[in-house]
Amino acid sequence: MMNEKKKVAIIGAGPSGMEQLRTFETAERDGEQPVKLVCLEKQSDWGGQWNYTWRTGLDEYGEPVHSSMYRNLWSNGPKEALEFADYSFDEHFGKSISSYPPRTVLWDYIAGRLQHTDGRKYVRFETVVRHVDFDEATQTFTVVSEHLPTGATRSETFDHVVVASGHFSFPNMPDAPGIETFTGIVSHAHDFRGAEGLADKHLLVVGSSYSAEDIGSQAFKMGAASVTASYRTNPIGYDWPKGFEERPAIKHIDGNTVHFIDGTSKHIDAIIFCTGYQHKYPFLPADLALSGPNTVYPEGLYRGVVWQNNPAMYYVGAQDQWFTFNMFDAQAWYVRDLIVGRAELPAADERAASIAEWRARFEAIDSVATEIEFQGEYVRDLLRQTDYPEFDIDEVVSIFNSWVEDKQVDIMGYRDRCYRSVITGTIATKHHTPWLQELDDSLERYLSDEVDLSVGSDFGLTSTAR
Ligand SMILES: Cc1cc2nc3c(=O)[nH]c(=O)nc-3n(C[C@H](O)[C@H](O)[C@H](O)COP(=O)(O)OP(=O)(O)OC[C@H]3O[C@@H](n4cnc5c(N)ncnc54)[C@H](O)[C@@H]3O)c2cc1C
Ligand SMILES: NC(=O)c1ccc[n+]([C@@H]2O[C@H](COP(=O)([O-])OP(=O)(O)OC[C@H]3O[C@@H](n4cnc5c(N)ncnc54)[C@H](OP(=O)(O)O)[C@@H]3O)[C@@H](O)[C@H]2O)c1
Repeated sequence: MMNEKKKVAIIGAGPSGMEQLRTFETAERDGEQPVKLVCLEKQSDWGGQWNYTWRTGLDEYGEPVHSSMYRNLWSNGPKEALEFADYSFDEHFGKSISSYPPRTVLWDYIAGRLQHTDGRKYVRFETVVRHVDFDEATQTFTVVSEHLPTGATRSETFDHVVVASGHFSFPNMPDAPGIETFTGIVSHAHDFRGAEGLADKHLLVVGSSYSAEDIGSQAFKMGAASVTASYRTNPIGYDWPKGFEERPAIKHIDGNTVHFIDGTSKHIDAIIFCTGYQHKYPFLPADLALSGPNTVYPEGLYRGVVWQNNPAMYYVGAQDQWFTFNMFDAQAWYVRDLIVGRAELPAADERAASIAEWRARFEAIDSVATEIEFQGEYVRDLLRQTDYPEFDIDEVVSIFNSWVEDKQVDIMGYRDRCYRSVITGTIATKHHTPWLQELDDSLERYLSDEVDLSVGSDFGLTSTAR
């Protein structure tokens, strides 16, 4: 039928899916009603990873639990590096807050942008996508979903599918020789919910990235007897406090003794594999499914979002992430503009050339600093294509660089530093209690003006915020 609205399915209502909803909502506010929208979300609320659950393994419906977040998870990067350009922290909270808020506060912020819109009406909660197929003849996708509480299944057709299902939920779980003889607790970061139970225990975290660093730090904070981080390629390399050390890869495990490849060994009570996640899309056939390692420029995606083999399908948030919410916004805005025809999709060979060019730049990345810069350039390229409000990407890159330095200086204290917003110019307010002493991650406690008198004197502004 002529002028029939395009039908769009968004899979997942985490930050990426919510941001995709926002794009259509802003277009509607501009007087357009561009598409028929459905967002399918398997959890009972939105927020994706930020929607904390105490459950691990399978949920109440026998579905794999999505979120890998834990109690006492605080932002691991400054909020000034992820702030929405069209909805500031000042606007949401009505006051300046610290640079590293806990999960509850960031969840509140993400949800806040959609709170006064009708975005929620498009989301079907507790509805899991089971299968997606593309029909060449009709050029449409068939999406089969299941309403989990009732088991009712539904098959619908769409012109476009936006995959926003995240990629930090299916653990990469390696083997270790002799691990079957280990008598302590073995788990993966995905199932970690809090470190209180690790008090007085000797913990081994396997991996040298953010989960290893932060779960190790949580255990240190909660009084672990010792924390050991085992690296495969490079050590994390911070100036760890006494009781926290790094060792190379595991050689073998014998009961409660872990032997490392440098010939040392250690008594260990609990092992947490912080070995990352797999790109896994069990609802997609192989020709539509992204695979491969977690990188800042995955193969097969034009401008990081358009599935090259079928440009009617998009991925939002599929990259490894320095930039997060602001990058998902840039991606979602571009995807919307492609769908509604505000932006033009180049031909397949042009897209392939662009992917090859960006992949070559990606292959040339040789440090954390160049990777951050690369992602900044990537976001800048997307922003040029859309009317998303501009923000100072160079300044965000510089905030990330200062953050890297802050961690080198004090890995247990970096979250007490303050940055200046690139959106409003507001300088963050120091939190009333240093991160290492703060045991309550609730929104109420965080927003209270209560001042902890034990706050140390070196607690304050970073050089970039001054
Ligand atoms: C432990 C951890 C800590 C992190 N900490 C930070 C941080 O401090 N700062 C930061 O900026 N970023 C952090 N991140 C990165 C985080 O991935 C992003 O902030 C953000 O959550 C990504 O959003 P997303 O919507 O792409 O994916 P997700 O948040 O993973 O959301 C995906 C959504 O899709 C739904 N879904 C999945 N499969 C289906 C299906 N088949 N059918 C229907 N729905 C489905 C899920 O239920 C979920 O709601 C962290 C990630 C992890 C794992
Ligand atoms: N807010 C927070 O505080 C917080 C906390 C945790 C996680 N996060 C976020 O969660 C996301 C995922 O982080 P992540 O650390 O889980 O995953 P990741 O960044 O993908 O890192 C995976 C780690 O596992 C190691 N590894 C993989 N296979 C291994 C093997 N077979 N043996 C030994 N080591 C192996 C890798 O080592 P190599 O270097 O050798 O490849 C790497 O160090 C990130 O976005 C991060 O920011 C945030």
